[in-house]
Amino acid sequence: MRNIRHNRQRRLPHFLLSSLLCSILCSLSAHAKPSDKVIEAKVNALLNKMTLAEKIGQMNQVNYALTEDQALAAIKSGQAGAILNPTGVGEDTDLKKINALQRLALEHSPSKIPLLFARDVIHGFKTIFPIPLGLAATFNPLLVEQGARIAAQEARAAGVHITFAPMLDIARDARWGRIAESFGEDPYLVSQMGIAMIHGFQTNDLSAVDSLGATAKHFFGYGATEGGRDYNSTNIPPGQLRNVYLPPFKAAVENGVVSVMTSFNENDGIPATANRYALQEILRKQWGFRGFVVSDWNATGELIVHGYVQNRKQAAERAINAGIDMEMFTGSFLENLPTLISEGKVSLQTVNDRVRNILRIKYKMGLFDHPFFDEQTAREAFLKPDSLTSARQTAEQSVVMLKNDRQTLPLKSINTLAIIGPLADKPHEQIGTWSWDGDETAVITPLAAFRQEKTLTVLYQPGLEYSRDKSTDAFAKTIEAVKQADAAVVFLGEEAILSGEAHSLANLNLVGAQSELLAAVKKTGKPVVLVVMAGRPLTIERDLPNADAVLYSFHPGTMGGPALRDLILGKANPSGKLPVTFVRQVGQIPLYYNHNNTGRPAPAEEQLDTLDTIPVGATQTSLGNTSYYLDAGRDPLFPFGYGLSYSNFAYGELQLSSNQIHLQDTLTAKVKVTNSSNIDGTEVVQLYLRDPVSSRVRPVKELKAFKRVPLKAGETQTVSFTLTSKDLAFYNGDDHFTAEPGEFQIWVGGDSQHGPQANFRLVP
Ligand code: BGC
Repeated sequence: MRNIRHNRQRRLPHFLLSSLLCSILCSLSAHAKPSDKVIEAKVNALLNKMTLAEKIGQMNQVNYALTEDQALAAIKSGQAGAILNPTGVGEDTDLKKINALQRLALEHSPSKIPLLFARDVIHGFKTIFPIPLGLAATFNPLLVEQGARIAAQEARAAGVHITFAPMLDIARDARWGRIAESFGEDPYLVSQMGIAMIHGFQTNDLSAVDSLGATAKHFFGYGATEGGRDYNSTNIPPGQLRNVYLPPFKAAVENGVVSVMTSFNENDGIPATANRYALQEILRKQWGFRGFVVSDWNATGELIVHGYVQNRKQAAERAINAGIDMEMFTGSFLENLPTLISEGKVSLQTVNDRVRNILRIKYKMGLFDHPFFDEQTAREAFLKPDSLTSARQTAEQSVVMLKNDRQTLPLKSINTLAIIGPLADKPHEQIGTWSWDGDETAVITPLAAFRQEKTLTVLYQPGLEYSRDKSTDAFAKTIEAVKQADAAVVFLGEEAILSGEAHSLANLNLVGAQSELLAAVKKTGKPVVLVVMAGRPLTIERDLPNADAVLYSFHPGTMGGPALRDLILGKANPSGKLPVTFVRQVGQIPLYYNHNNTGRPAPAEEQLDTLDTIPVGATQTSLGNTSYYLDAGRDPLFPFGYGLSYSNFAYGELQLSSNQIHLQDTLTAKVKVTNSSNIDGTEVVQLYLRDPVSSRVRPVKELKAFKRVPLKAGETQTVSFTLTSKDLAFYNGDDHFTAEPGEFQIWVGGDSQHGPQANFRLVP
């Protein structure tokens, strides 16, 4: 939505503004930003000088960590265009190594083209922010942009040029471990978060010395992997592809992302890494992408395993002809392109086009002007106080309060607090998945944070050593500690390694003896606060009765401890909202709020037959049958967009600027939101839309806008959103994006299930 981009300009925090300003001024003082024309001329001039071998070399992304000697030889001979994972980036010795590699390329390779150093900087570099699913839960693109800016400054200071983020896969299956790396199930939210991250990494000036190139991954459909099993097949039909899976990538391209990574999956029989239609027709022709396409780790080699090609030679042929510019790790281009070209299976024109895409970005990023970084000062960029403050604020806003019976939270009048659970004091787990450079020594755990409270006596008993621990041996002493306390806060969830790539699960209950531990703590009769730290939505329905209050914290990063402590003690007020639907049982998956309507939608939950109500011996009938589970009903445990606050928010009537608009008009939706409590808080006001009758069945609701609205105790604000026909449009044909005239329904509320509704008509 336009408002959000607009607001971003107005509300950039002071220190972010000054760092943006600095990056602009610093880069200006070093060099003026060259125009696209100048860059194109430079690219072509260089290309004309290069031998075929060197061109092929530019397309080769070498994995440094596994093949140091080979990497050095490849760099020297001009057979490496990019280096993946220069080992342990961030350590003193390795920083020197990165510059040494660059020197090797610039002094010894034939055309002296600077190397591009690539690394997965996913949710922070040294200062770790919440995992992306947690970032999405903030519904705060400004903070996401700020976090990405900090990550960019830290990573560029350590010699990294490009990151493999943001991951823009729509994730609707919590079994898939990589849901942790996603921004959740909704195309609009994922797009907004992706845009914010790209702006944070790249800024408006790619050539700035602290600008980090972003990669939109994984193109395309990877999140729809069958059964949530990583790397599996997907079967996304064209309409769903255009309306659900592609929009975040289109938004990334429109916002200048420098690179796109293809995914591992095959969709309907065509592996994404060899999908010519997606890469050439959609990405290049329809969207006008001018950066480079990189294949995921060995995705070209895996074309053989898929059974799509015979051998590495054919893999290289299919991948380059489909549109891969840079091959990550496999080396099949290097090995086979000379022969493929001499056999006429790959044209020189294709090679030139691919290399142009890579060189263009190297020039745009200013690598020819400033190929080195300052090893001496690099560490000064790490873990700055402002960065930690930002990480803390983000962690605070990423926490979603799911339950708060009898206002258990915030904890008041507590002298002695029992801190329980295997995740209360685990820096490594708190950081979460995909964080190779995160500094665990900088992590403040919840236990450490509570111990900073002078007025509190903290009794710590983990109860279990780690989340999968099944031993109940320590339960007795744990319960003793709880009995001596005024309340217990129990930190359960998942170790970091249980989510992320290749870590899919079929059972999403709390692992080990964690549920038993919680139940035992509850039996003491003391107030129990459950904090779940996890990489995915777990099925916690069975645990809810054993907690008076529940905070869900997707692995919250370096400053998760202070953020959670402040929320629990009421120094901060929860404002996070769920970026994914929480299911009751794994068998309900996939369950997402923005589904299409069936011809037989289920009535209210109370009216449904269940396993317990169907009479024994009942005769088969289809009368009144609807779409739901006899044993799990129709509803999720918690809907998308849900999240409680210590404040109460009341919504007034939804008022529209008109009940009829034309295609070129805008529509303003206004609603009064009141904080009817005596506590200041922030509500994430969400706008949903439905096109009830159209040429293609449309979702029952779609998020189209949201705003974080801070409201003082007792305060009322009128929140308004402006929609254009673009917000009403969808792909009703392969590349035909249009708003169809007719009736529309609109809701504004605090989650995807509640809020006042109004209708309007779109007329041609
Ligand atoms: C992942 C990518 C990642 C790459 C490089 C692959 O296994 O799928 O997301 O960027 O490795 O580390």
